[in-house]
Amino acid sequence: MEPGASAGRRYLLKTFGCQMNEHDSERIAGLLEADGMEPATDLDDADVVVLNTCCIRENADNRLYGTLGHLKSAKDARPGLEIVVGGCLAQKDRDLIRRRAPHVDVVLGTHNVHRAADLLAEARATGPITEILEASAIEDHEAFPSALPVRREQGHSAWVTIQIGCDNACAFCIVPTVRGPEMSRPFEHLVDEVARLAANGVVEVTLLGQNVNSYGRDLALARRRAGDGRIRVRPMFAELLRAVAAVEGIRRVRYTSPHPKDLSAEVVDAMATTPAVCEHLHLPLQSGSDRVLAAMHRGYTAARYLDRLATARSAIADLAVTTDIIVGFPGETDDDFERTLEVAAEAGYDSAYTFVYSPRAGTEVAERTDRFVAAEVVAERFERLRTVVERSALTRHRGRIGGVEEVVVEGPSRRDPLVTTGRTRQNKLVHFAPPAPLRPGTFAEVEVTGAGAHHLRGELVTVTATPLRRARIPVTAG
Ligand code: 5AD
Ligand code: SF4
Repeated sequence: MEPGASAGRRYLLKTFGCQMNEHDSERIAGLLEADGMEPATDLDDADVVVLNTCCIRENADNRLYGTLGHLKSAKDARPGLEIVVGGCLAQKDRDLIRRRAPHVDVVLGTHNVHRAADLLAEARATGPITEILEASAIEDHEAFPSALPVRREQGHSAWVTIQIGCDNACAFCIVPTVRGPEMSRPFEHLVDEVARLAANGVVEVTLLGQNVNSYGRDLALARRRAGDGRIRVRPMFAELLRAVAAVEGIRRVRYTSPHPKDLSAEVVDAMATTPAVCEHLHLPLQSGSDRVLAAMHRGYTAARYLDRLATARSAIADLAVTTDIIVGFPGETDDDFERTLEVAAEAGYDSAYTFVYSPRAGTEVAERTDRFVAAEVVAERFERLRTVVERSALTRHRGRIGGVEEVVVEGPSRRDPLVTTGRTRQNKLVHFAPPAPLRPGTFAEVEVTGAGAHHLRGELVTVTATPLRRARIPVTAG
């Protein structure tokens, strides 16, 4: 791509959905900026609008088509406005998007994020384009989001995709269909990338994948098939955690998400014995009922899940635990749901993402409309689960009052610019008011003085380190 082909044009990027998508968005922003574009402040100011979509839950579709309707009016008023739709909903619904929203200029999928700027230039020359690649068409490791230029919101903290796709087959989940089979990025590439990030002032990395605990199994298998008989086919995630944490300048390592069935003793040990790895485990439960877990094909029982959690808690001091739970999976009875409440209470979560089951066409249970749970029953269950989770979160957060925590500054609080927001090692937001503004990336010690279900409040004790470089790194190649 010729840098500067779009010089001076302004883009607005809107992300729907998960962290993986936030990360892809950073790559898209990096590419557009490498092509000479600048971020717009709002729609009126934008020449190009990029929607990065998610198809994991249904309301993402509704929100996308709502937004596209709104953009149609904007484009009618201003025909030069260009619209790009990317991400996993685009991957899945390619033709539908074209049919429902012919005013979209570029539709691209999850496997060709790196083509965003090129396709935009092509569409300008020749008219609307849809380019969706199947996972099997990709052999080039450069297609991984992390191997692309990036524009990060937080200069001190970066996401690194270690694996794409998923080899599991959870009965509710569209990810294996849209993201394809698991593909791990080579170990050395990842360590090199983290070293490059650290050299640019990054102190915290979050390793991303759908099932990080199986990281590397596919790489070993490929080497074995290529004739290296000495290779043991096993995951290498524990080694990766250690290697990334050993990179000079990296002070915090996080990761998401592990699968409870694959959380190994080696990974728990690596977390326990590697000081840079943060004391936070996101362990998706999905349901507390063994019957539902089996129907979901999750590969564990509630007892097994709690057992693994207990092992992790006893090995890793002061561990925060978060989770994902689905309410209203087809066929979920009152009794099944009671089990979910019990397991959630027993697990004592610090927070939980709770989702209403949403049928995704093409998944195993989406057609079982006869087993769908009535919306009002789901809504009531959802509220009850929220209460249980908030209760345990508040108890755990109150238990931290009086302690002093290491906090990395993220910036001024959204509600009150005099209040600073930082993040603890356990991934909790802390609001505090320093006497003078602190730059993002500053390390401080903060005494916890108050707690809510979703945050902590505190008072600055001392600043322990200031960021080495500018907090915002506009574009880094590769
Ligand atoms: N309906 C509701 N929630 C879902 N998730 C994935 N697919 C669905 C679905 N069809 C949730 C799971 C997963 C999280 C990322 O999204 O809890 O862990
Ligand atoms: Fe989806 Fe299950 Fe794979 Fe997670 S492990 S991405 S829920 S299929």
